[in-house]
Amino acid sequence: MEWTEDLSVGIDTIDEYHKALISRIKELVTAIKNNFCKYIIGDAINFLERYSAACLSAEERYMQISHYPEYNKHKEQHDSFVTDIHQLKNELLNLDSSEKHASYYLSVETNRVMVDWVCNHILNANKTLGAFLRVEMIFGNNPSILDSAMHGAYFKN
Ligand SMILES: [Fe+2]
Repeated sequence: MEWTEDLSVGIDTIDEYHKALISRIKELVTAIKNNFCKYIIGDAINFLERYSAACLSAEERYMQISHYPEYNKHKEQHDSFVTDIHQLKNELLNLDSSEKHASYYLSVETNRVMVDWVCNHILNANKTLGAFLRVEMIFGNNPSILDSAMHGAYFKN
């Protein structure tokens, strides 16, 4: 999976988070194909924890500031994704190293969760949110909606 403009939600801060996610998906797929996923699966899942803490909370803040009408529905999807990541983290912590293919299966499952998130959330709910925020920035009463100190400052890929 590569970053393309089709994936853009039109809000730079959010797009930067998404680019980092796409880059991790690509890295994990390469590792699965080349049989070295056991060396990077821990890092990939730790990235997902940081990503969800930073990107999802930034989006939630934007939704609150702009009184986004779809907030509850959107937040439910975020919460469900965070639950999925917690499950992956638990599986990582309990990985049975005596099981030959354990890290391979966990890597494939992690990749599935990430790709599903891109296809089902980013390309739908986040694009809708991005369009709403752009209109708010132009016509709304929140011209500084994205001029926030939280702009990715604490997110390190
Ligand atoms: Fe979202």
